[in-house]
Amino acid sequence: MEEYVGTKFKTIFLQREIPVIDNSNKIISIAKRLSKYFPNNAGNISIRTKQGFIITATGSDLTNLKADDLVEVTNVNIKHKEIVVNGTKEPSSESFLHNAVYQARPEINAIIHGHGTIKGNIPTTRHFQPYGSIELMKEVLNILENNNIIIIKDHGFLSLGKTIEDATPDF
Ligand code: 13P
Repeated sequence: MEEYVGTKFKTIFLQREIPVIDNSNKIISIAKRLSKYFPNNAGNISIRTKQGFIITATGSDLTNLKADDLVEVTNVNIKHKEIVVNGTKEPSSESFLHNAVYQARPEINAIIHGHGTIKGNIPTTRHFQPYGSIELMKEVLNILENNNIIIIKDHGFLSLGKTIEDATPDF
């Protein structure tokens, strides 16, 4: 596993306030329930909003999330590697990936990325790429199609759903 060195983009804070979120309790309780998929309590969870998506803050302890660990991403600029947010913390380092999946799959409203082992015949990205990178995002888009669960080679899994409950892995 790669060493975590923080996000690989610049965060621009629009409103430095904890975003108001209808589903925050759901995210917090699902994250607790999925602790076996989050070795070292690391991973990230997001849900689509009208303005973008709410995602866990980078470096969050997923099994013990607090309200200020949720950040709303409202704009993503890949070219300039900038992400605009409402919240008090930096968003997950995988925000490029979550954003790309929401763009590619309009019916998807929730995404969970964890590191626990998942068995089965699951589509897997072809090449290893560093976490939080544009290259990793592209690897995922290459095999995404209509799959709702994929393995990110030598890294973890990505699980998608129409709701956060649908996105919760059940293996
Ligand atoms: P974040 O803590 O930044 O969400 O990153 C954890 C991770 O899973 C990187 O792939």
